[in-house]
Amino acid sequence: MEIKNVVIIGSGTMGSGIAAHLCNANVPVTLLDLTTEISEKAREKIYKSRPPLLIDKTKINNIKIGNINDDFGVVKNADWVVEAVVERIDIKHNIYEKIFNNRKSGAIVSSNTSSIPIKVLSEKLNLDQKKDFCITHFFNPVRYMGLLEIVKNENNDLSKIESLKEFCERELGKGAIVCNDTPGFLGNRIGVYAMQVAMTEAFKMKMSIEEADAVFGRPMGIPKTGVFGLYDLIGIDLMADVLKSFIKELPKSDPFQPVAKEIPLITKLIQQGYTGRKGKGGFYRMNKENNQKILEAINLETEKYSPTKKIDLGIETIDLKNLINRNDKYGEYAWSVISKIIKYSSSLVPGITNKFNDIDEAMRLGFNWAMGPFEMLKSIGVKNFFERIDSFQGNKFLEDLSKSKNENFYGERQLYTNIETFGKIKPKAIKIDKNKSAQIYRFNDFNIVEFTTKACALDYDSMDALKNATDKPLIIMNESMQFSAGVNLSYTMNFAEKGDFKSIEKFIRYFQETCKHLKYSKYPVVSAPSGLALGGGEEVAIQSNFVVSHTNIVMGLVETLVGLVPAGGGCKELLWRWSQTPEARKDPDFAPMKVFNIIGYATTATSTVEAEPLKFLRPEDKKVMNRNSLFQISKKIIEENKDFKSPSENFYNLPGKPLKEKMIKVLEKLYNEKIILDHGLEVGKELATVLSGGETTIDHKLSEDDIYKLELNSFMRLIENKKTQDRIRHTLSTGKPLVN
Ligand code: NAI
Repeated sequence: MEIKNVVIIGSGTMGSGIAAHLCNANVPVTLLDLTTEISEKAREKIYKSRPPLLIDKTKINNIKIGNINDDFGVVKNADWVVEAVVERIDIKHNIYEKIFNNRKSGAIVSSNTSSIPIKVLSEKLNLDQKKDFCITHFFNPVRYMGLLEIVKNENNDLSKIESLKEFCERELGKGAIVCNDTPGFLGNRIGVYAMQVAMTEAFKMKMSIEEADAVFGRPMGIPKTGVFGLYDLIGIDLMADVLKSFIKELPKSDPFQPVAKEIPLITKLIQQGYTGRKGKGGFYRMNKENNQKILEAINLETEKYSPTKKIDLGIETIDLKNLINRNDKYGEYAWSVISKIIKYSSSLVPGITNKFNDIDEAMRLGFNWAMGPFEMLKSIGVKNFFERIDSFQGNKFLEDLSKSKNENFYGERQLYTNIETFGKIKPKAIKIDKNKSAQIYRFNDFNIVEFTTKACALDYDSMDALKNATDKPLIIMNESMQFSAGVNLSYTMNFAEKGDFKSIEKFIRYFQETCKHLKYSKYPVVSAPSGLALGGGEEVAIQSNFVVSHTNIVMGLVETLVGLVPAGGGCKELLWRWSQTPEARKDPDFAPMKVFNIIGYATTATSTVEAEPLKFLRPEDKKVMNRNSLFQISKKIIEENKDFKSPSENFYNLPGKPLKEKMIKVLEKLYNEKIILDHGLEVGKELATVLSGGETTIDHKLSEDDIYKLELNSFMRLIENKKTQDRIRHTLSTGKPLVN
């Protein structure tokens, strides 16, 4: 069955998110709510959403709107009707009656419920209707969350479920995992349990919330919001409702029950309006004192707020074995939490699913964990785990494993999809080389480089891996969220603090050398970015021969925000692309001026659609909705380019001084209008030096190396400047740019 037309009922957070995403996939969609005004408001919210729900905002009117009284006729033409109204069974039942009276024969009807079982949702349907009814549980924000749980039960027509899954994978780019009708399905059952364990153990062990979040965060491969931060983000009141529903739906003997119990502090916070980020604050709050914003954290014992304390565990990479073996309370807390998560998850196999692998993948896709509970077990090691775990009676999975002691119990990954993903081939690929910042794999006859640092920030070692991997065709891609957030600023700053500018210069030279090498190596180089491709990350992508980009991409050359200019070839390459336009052929100032604006304002694109007009991407670069497909498409490019010939070098004719003066005039105007301050002017002037070509004239041919040199010189002058260092320090400590 084909899905060519979708109707969504309920235009709240989820309904509008799903509608926007169908629009992203160019599927005709109509959004109905109680009144057309509500749907209209929802559409306005989609338009203004940040991060944007739409890949291409100009398509907003492709989302048709209406109300459930006058416009219900649209349901007659829909191949799929999604119900996303409030979580109330009476309202949902009424809507299903109306939908099934109007739907096209055989059309799929699904609910986005997060907590009501199919059994209950479909209790008033006849058998024929039940065949076509399921739950499609999208996660918020729909465009960005990889997971879609398709929940079925024994009444479903499985071929229809399969074709829905296929559609959601192919067209919507989701990691669609089909699961059984059990409370919380896969993701929330484990994810919410994990949060509750992390929270209750923090109370028990008298940890501060900052400490708990510092452990139940990056060191465990969990997003840095940790548990208390995540509670604030989701909404403390919403979490309380979710827990009530688990308490109601799960058997009394389920180990979830004790950790789902009401916590007095939480009840108090909700009563006082501390519902999280959407309220007055939550476990964390922003307080204003003497006109200064101060982030405060609540003390779990005294229930009083005080300024947050930074907890540094001194951990750079995820290493669970090390973490749980630490001889301090952090190690103890980590073991206590991780072991409970593993124990609980494994106790649910085969009850909620017979594929434990699906649980891991649901946690990766739905909660952005770097590994799921079974992968955690694998990484701790079966022997180590059983040496330390207390009891696991009645847990068949662990009982079996304790007998077999099979360290290789895990088997294949990502069984839920037929796509040949990077995750699937990783265990089969040969690990050629590894340094502290990257890993090189060999698969078939090509290499893959995966960055392994925090946010995949780049340093000398990342470059070394890239350079060493060009002895074969190369794919650059990561399984973690970001392609690369850019050059590692702390790495650079460490040298600057010591006045060791020679080392910085050495690094930048090596960065340039590597990028040049990527561009001109004998074999094709494919970058497959997703998430952030900023600064140095974008420079790697833009100097690769081919790009296969996920549509959810944030791209840009944002170096000026930290008082620098792109020096890994970013200025050079963007300048080249803009100089190939018809306007540039007529006007030699056109391309440099364009690039001056794009880089000067640190313009970023939030999708492939926005990236192309800025020329961060080219029309021929591939744009892919499903992140899982990046590997397969990159691999195909390599296979199709067996006779690859590296490109010929570019030469530039740039106007030099007169253009630089023109750019400085622009900067002075901005300075006089106080849009930029002293250092903004300084950084702008350096950018002008690079983009105008420095001491050149229009009839003089500049090579790529010449532009690299200009980039390097400007970069070095700036990094030695105290005000650039202030900017970097500020960004490192606050995550925000400093305007100075
Ligand atoms: P919401 O409260 O933001 O939106 C609900 C919408 O339904 C409102 O616009 C309301 O006017 C409309 N509505 C109410 N009665 C209606 C009726 N009879 N006919 C048409 N529209 C009607 O709710 P939200 O958060 O979008 O949740 C929708 C569903 O998705 C719920 O079942 C919820 O459990 C589920 N869900 C929510 C998630 C979230 O993060 N908010 C995540 C996953 C699932």
